[in-house]
Amino acid sequence: MKQIYSLRLLLLAGVLCLFSHQTMSQTYAAEGMVVTSNRQGAEVGLAVLKKGGNAIDAAVATSFAMAVTYPVAGNIGGGGFIVYMQANGETTTIDFREKAPLAATADMYLDEHGDLIINENHLSPKAIGVPGTVAGLYLAHSKYGSLSWADVIQPAIDLAEQGTEMLYSNYFTARFIEGRHEQNPEEMKYMNEFFRDDAGKIVEPGELWKQPDLAKTLRAIRDQGADGFYKGEVAARLAGFMKEIGGLITEEDLAAYEAVERPPVHGTFGEYDIYSMPPPSSGGVTLIEMLNMAESVSDDSLAFNSAEYYHYLAEFMRRAYTDRARYLGDPDFNPDIPLNEILNKERAARLAAGIDPEKASVSDSTQVQLPEGTNTTHMSFMDKDGNAVSLTYTLEYSYGSRIVAGGLGFVLNNEMGDFNPVPGVTTSTGLIGSAPNQIAPGKRMLSSMTPTIVAKDGKPYLVIGSPGGRTIINTVFQTVYNVLAFDMALDAAIEAPKIHHQWLPDQILFERDKVSPDTQALLRAMGHKLIPVNGLGDLNGILVEPRQNLIIGVSDSASPEGAALGY
Ligand code: DON
Repeated sequence: MKQIYSLRLLLLAGVLCLFSHQTMSQTYAAEGMVVTSNRQGAEVGLAVLKKGGNAIDAAVATSFAMAVTYPVAGNIGGGGFIVYMQANGETTTIDFREKAPLAATADMYLDEHGDLIINENHLSPKAIGVPGTVAGLYLAHSKYGSLSWADVIQPAIDLAEQGTEMLYSNYFTARFIEGRHEQNPEEMKYMNEFFRDDAGKIVEPGELWKQPDLAKTLRAIRDQGADGFYKGEVAARLAGFMKEIGGLITEEDLAAYEAVERPPVHGTFGEYDIYSMPPPSSGGVTLIEMLNMAESVSDDSLAFNSAEYYHYLAEFMRRAYTDRARYLGDPDFNPDIPLNEILNKERAARLAAGIDPEKASVSDSTQVQLPEGTNTTHMSFMDKDGNAVSLTYTLEYSYGSRIVAGGLGFVLNNEMGDFNPVPGVTTSTGLIGSAPNQIAPGKRMLSSMTPTIVAKDGKPYLVIGSPGGRTIINTVFQTVYNVLAFDMALDAAIEAPKIHHQWLPDQILFERDKVSPDTQALLRAMGHKLIPVNGLGDLNGILVEPRQNLIIGVSDSASPEGAALGY
């Protein structure tokens, strides 16, 4: 297995030289690369790189552009994380996760009987967290960017002002929203106007879709920096809108929001160094814990795609997600998270040694006093100097709360749904009630986003991440594991079958058409419950083939409108 993949990589690398070539899913380049789920965004990033901008400039410009072109997840009304590795291996992260408003309380989604009010934490104005994206992009750019702030935001303004080609994905969404709204005028009422022109008609695929309100908001951010969003007219309008619709965010909340630079979590796998997002994401910690378990079980004993491989992966996942539920939350509110213990290789080896090779273990909800949901997008960047950016940002659900900020033109998140909504209650269906991720004013909700960079010989080697709520960590884990343990080519690793186990509910989700019926039967015989799903993850990654100085970009086939663009 190993040899076949190495050979393939070498062969590919051997025939390619210093020009960019694109196939269905892979792009090869020598200088720089941008990989996103949205071609229009990737084009902006590529132009920035070609103009001499670095990976941070490209990431910031693409993120603003995708707030215009990819509103299902691209945003200025949500939050996310950046992992940034310079060419010399120095790595840092930027945390721009949303925060709970100051008026939030631990039991804010419960009725008088202590029961969760259905949809209140996900689809109500109270589900909106204080947005972090603008502060995060501003911080990343001020510390590490090389072009001017105006240079990286102007392309987004141009797209909003002059219009962007209506994509099929946005168009189908617009039609879907219209149908839902017609059936129930209360449903999607804020989104129903979103994809329309001045005459009120839904913009057709291929036509130009203009967003003048969003252009105005972006101009304020261009001219005043992050203050253009968190203070002044935009903040006042946003707070006024919140009051009108019954949301909690005030001008004080907005003025108090700060993005934070944090050291990455670090692990190793063989000769590779893994750098990923620390809490308030659970992604990096859980990823490294699973890689540690996988490393302790020799890869020769786990043939890729065998029932045994899936069994072991599911058991690693079960164990790591138990720790996630027990320990992880916003570090500013949980100063005692035992990171050294969770990331310890001997402990991981002991956990892995407890796996019965022939029998599924059982998840026990009384072990911990566990939550999360469905859109996010990941992008990967590399510049001509070898600096790399791994960026995942989100609105939580597709189009977040489905509420467009009045007159400001952007979609607001529903990230509050990532907090544990019912204190103390953990159920076998996957509700978690543990303390570290209960709601408190100003606290960041636990995330599963796992923007990751793997270094080899101290330099960026693999840049990767995915959307998918709680499945993200497992999708990234399997992709990284497939590349590092089996020397698999990046496109093969991204398209390879994925499974997901999250401790509770005690079941394995698997990609319907990718795991053979025979393998499924073997897993059932071991005691696993299997649930088919259409797909897991939407990975956008970069792999550097250092021997050939080749940058390989791969955009997951899950996003037909995605692109890996290099030069
Ligand atoms: O931060 C998180 O983990 C979630 N809010 C991400 C949601 C998500 O990935 C949905 N995507 N498909």
